[in-house]
Amino acid sequence: MDKLPIKESFPRLEELRNNHIVIKFGGNAISGEGELQRFAKDVAMMRSLGVLPVLVHGGGPEITREMKLRGMEARKVSGLRITDTQTLEIAEYVLGRINREIVKALKGAGVDSMGIPGYKGGLLHCKRKDPVLVYDEDGNLATIDLGHVGDVESVDAKQLRYMTLSGIVPVIYPIGIDYEGGHVNVNADTAAAHIAAALQCEEMILITDVPGILTDVNDAASLIKEVSIKQVEDLIEGGIVMGGMVPKVEACRLALEKGVRSTHMLGGKDAEHLLRQILDGSHRGTKIVNG
Ligand SMILES: Nc1ncnc2c1ncn2[C@@H]1O[C@H](COP(=O)(O)OP(=O)(O)OP(=O)(O)O)[C@@H](O)[C@H]1O
Ligand SMILES: [Mg+2]
Repeated sequence: MDKLPIKESFPRLEELRNNHIVIKFGGNAISGEGELQRFAKDVAMMRSLGVLPVLVHGGGPEITREMKLRGMEARKVSGLRITDTQTLEIAEYVLGRINREIVKALKGAGVDSMGIPGYKGGLLHCKRKDPVLVYDEDGNLATIDLGHVGDVESVDAKQLRYMTLSGIVPVIYPIGIDYEGGHVNVNADTAAAHIAAALQCEEMILITDVPGILTDVNDAASLIKEVSIKQVEDLIEGGIVMGGMVPKVEACRLALEKGVRSTHMLGGKDAEHLLRQILDGSHRGTKIVNG
């Protein structure tokens, strides 16, 4: 077995084999039947090579769309959605629907998978998020209560290991449970980072609707190929990294600090041949590194 050609061409496979890899994708990143089927095939390939994928998905754009259809206005602070009771209901409904589509695509590609909301079996245990401090329109500091939004406190990694070691790919959506048994909305990137840390996984990949961190959001050619956590802080302070990109880089920082070995961001369109990109290091996105 040692001399399999795949080992010759992809030395990284040895590090990934029998290791978890957390892949998170946003609502806009991989959508529609064709893209989902292609992604499902990649996951099937990972499984057949002995890599243990754990999937986490968001659904931000779809939740916003559904809210608009119901005449509601979506509001976010620092990339986090203000979540009142009705918004939470919509988020759960939309994420549940996306989750079923992903599981269906995976099953179609022959991948045993199981959709799991983060609240199930205490998978994502959370504390209600404290109100956040922001400047209001007049430049005064104000506190904003985000509502049913959670900070992840613990992840039941055992539950996930049972699944992956039984050949099942978990497909998680980030509605956690708080200490009173209530459901809370968690940013999907943040949830992925906590999951990746709890599994001490080899790699976390965040697939999104842009190719990675851009110095100019409107110019895909302004992609930053590699960036350190310290440099990212400057990018946030300089207003270059904003909105939904903020929790994404914070997620990479958290994962790296907690022992995840490697973190990448990748555009959905560039996620073609995802595994190959991971294996030969030819990924087209942004690699976030410690330092
Ligand atoms: N410097 C930057 N480089 C790239 N994207 C940026 C930057 N600053 C802000 N963004 C925004 O971040 C967005 C990605 O985050 P967003 O939360 O919208 O998507 P997601 O996390 O992939 O999906 P979901 O929230 O559904 O899980 C991009 O579409 C872009 O508008
Ligand atoms: Mg997001």
